[in-house]
Amino acid sequence: STPSPAATRSISSTHTLLFGNDTNPAHPKHIGSIDPTCNVAEVVRDAYDTAKMLCEKYYMAAPELKIEEFNMKNPKKPIQAVYVPSHLFHMLFELFKNSMRATVELHENSSEGLPPVKAKVTLGKEDLSVKISDRGGGVPLRKIDRLFNYMYSTAPTPSLEPGTVPLAGFGYGLPISRLYARYFQGDLKLYSMEGVGTDAVIYLKALSSESFERLPVFNKSALRHYKTSPEADDWSNPSKEPRDASKSKYKANR
Ligand SMILES: Nc1ncnc2c1ncn2[C@@H]1O[C@H](COP(=O)(O)OP(=O)(O)OP(=O)(O)O)[C@@H](O)[C@H]1O
Ligand SMILES: [Mg+2]
Repeated sequence: STPSPAATRSISSTHTLLFGNDTNPAHPKHIGSIDPTCNVAEVVRDAYDTAKMLCEKYYMAAPELKIEEFNMKNPKKPIQAVYVPSHLFHMLFELFKNSMRATVELHENSSEGLPPVKAKVTLGKEDLSVKISDRGGGVPLRKIDRLFNYMYSTAPTPSLEPGTVPLAGFGYGLPISRLYARYFQGDLKLYSMEGVGTDAVIYLKALSSESFERLPVFNKSALRHYKTSPEADDWSNPSKEPRDASKSKYKANR
């Protein structure tokens, strides 16, 4: 198959860095855009700090951060990922902005202050996961799926004046972040309990060999891959009704 132009560029610049004498001066340990020793908790803190600056600009306050780490593979070591740190940063930054906005909007006038936003970084055999939890009041289950629609936002339309960076309002944060996660075989999911708060979980592959790129269909063999293994019909999928009702063994006795 033919790699995308972006992939080609990334591969060729990575190749030059690996086999040439060049290093990326800003990040000497990086290989192209990949950091083989990306400290996940550090990226979490960076993303939090950046979101916090924006949040304080808008609301004059921001919730605290609490980070917990569970490294099942190597309990005494910090969790590291062979990953593109800028992708991880982007996803976390979007989740922190959302959690901060929900938290401040709900607790702005409460005498108890703002409940902290919690981050949990975990490494198992298969998954490296990061959960961001807030007490921002949550979203009803019925609405969860539509949060991933492009341009769905409950924030006022942000100003497009140059030099201003909005905290929310384009409705692109979640769908784009999920795209980033899925690109390397991971995912992003939201679990919310209305009235309390939201957990957002980024799932990444713990092994870099599992996190190959997932690209759109370009050729016949990729198409075959998509066409095989049809999902079993079940009652939850109304488009899979029996085609000819009169031949169906479930035909009603009339
Ligand atoms: N942690 C959360 N708690 C409550 N509501 C949330 C949370 N995260 C997202 N939402 C809801 O989902 C909507 C969509 O989120 P998304 O990040 O995609 O867009 P946005 O935050 O409105 O704008 P932006 O593109 O600037 O991020 C938000 O407007 C908000 O209503
Ligand atoms: Mg957002």
